[in-house]
Amino acid sequence: MKKTPHILAIESSCDETSAAILRGREVLSNLIATQKIHEDYGGVVPELASREHQKNITPVVDQAIQQSGIRKEDIDAIAYTRGPGLLGSLLVGSSFAKGLSLALEVPLIEVHHMQAHILAHFIVADSKTAYPEFPFLCLTVSGGHTQIVRVDSHKDFKVLGESLDDAAGEAFDKVAKILGLPYPGGPEVDKLAKDGNADAFSFPEANIPALNMSFSGLKTAVLYFVRDHEKQDPGFVKRNMSDICASVQKVIVDTLLNKLEKAALEEGIEHIALAGGVSANSLLRSKFKDLCVKHGWKSFIPKFEYCTDNAAMIGIVGYFKYVQGETAALKGAPQARMVL
Ligand code: KG4
Ligand code: ZN
Repeated sequence: MKKTPHILAIESSCDETSAAILRGREVLSNLIATQKIHEDYGGVVPELASREHQKNITPVVDQAIQQSGIRKEDIDAIAYTRGPGLLGSLLVGSSFAKGLSLALEVPLIEVHHMQAHILAHFIVADSKTAYPEFPFLCLTVSGGHTQIVRVDSHKDFKVLGESLDDAAGEAFDKVAKILGLPYPGGPEVDKLAKDGNADAFSFPEANIPALNMSFSGLKTAVLYFVRDHEKQDPGFVKRNMSDICASVQKVIVDTLLNKLEKAALEEGIEHIALAGGVSANSLLRSKFKDLCVKHGWKSFIPKFEYCTDNAAMIGIVGYFKYVQGETAALKGAPQARMVL
């Protein structure tokens, strides 16, 4: 019988330097170094991100190997994020992966970051966990992407609809910045919204045809809302922060779930999944579950630590590609943009 492969996975597409070791679909270690440096700037500064990756990558990979309990010699392949993402950040992870693959004489595997968010659902959890069956729909919501994807197999992905401008995570972050909240804004808005009234203020939901979405108008609406209220009543935003957060969050979540519901009904698909950093949002998680219960659909949300960027999800794609013999050449260059 063939032995279960050990995959070392490296993720460096944005502001998280992460490394993981998987044995088959099981995660043995998953280390994530989050770059705090960007907090001072209210957003990710690409050049600083590359430099932080450069500092972090060796200790993070080293600790991931140590924590997994395996030896370097036991690694069967190295999977890394080829894109999409920040080019300078991707270059650090890809160069490291290539160097180590040469040194250890093991194959390289290129991974698409958004496929990894989706396939994170197949990471082995406990014996009670169910996995989505093909075909399933996945609402992938991150800082850079918002897509409704039909998944027909581990390698067949079809984007049915997407945001035509800002991603949902970007909308959370930009609104938070306008409100004077720290970066990353998504978790802050989520936290503050818990004590707020979502019907206190009304923000517009963009009317976009088919399964596409738009979030840039919301950011502008919040900008004018803040400017006008502060002019008439200084301190208004601070005093109404929870209500504003709850009202904005409701529009984003409703937009996402209205389109997801439409897609599922049109496709006649009953296994529905959430993925990406914004799937950590508490309102999205609960309303998503309610929607699935209403229609009798089966819902899937990855464990919290596999929602935001992490290398374990890169490793699971690495595993599926490894068993298919889909290894890569050393000359493959990282790509800032990549179709799914
Ligand atoms: O998938 P991810 O970790 O990185 C990208 O590939 O972009 O997603 C990061 C995004 C950020 O925009 C962050 O604000 C958002 O996910 N996010 C949240 C929450 N946690 C993370 N947005 C809303 N509510 C949250 N709880
Ligand atoms: Zn991501």
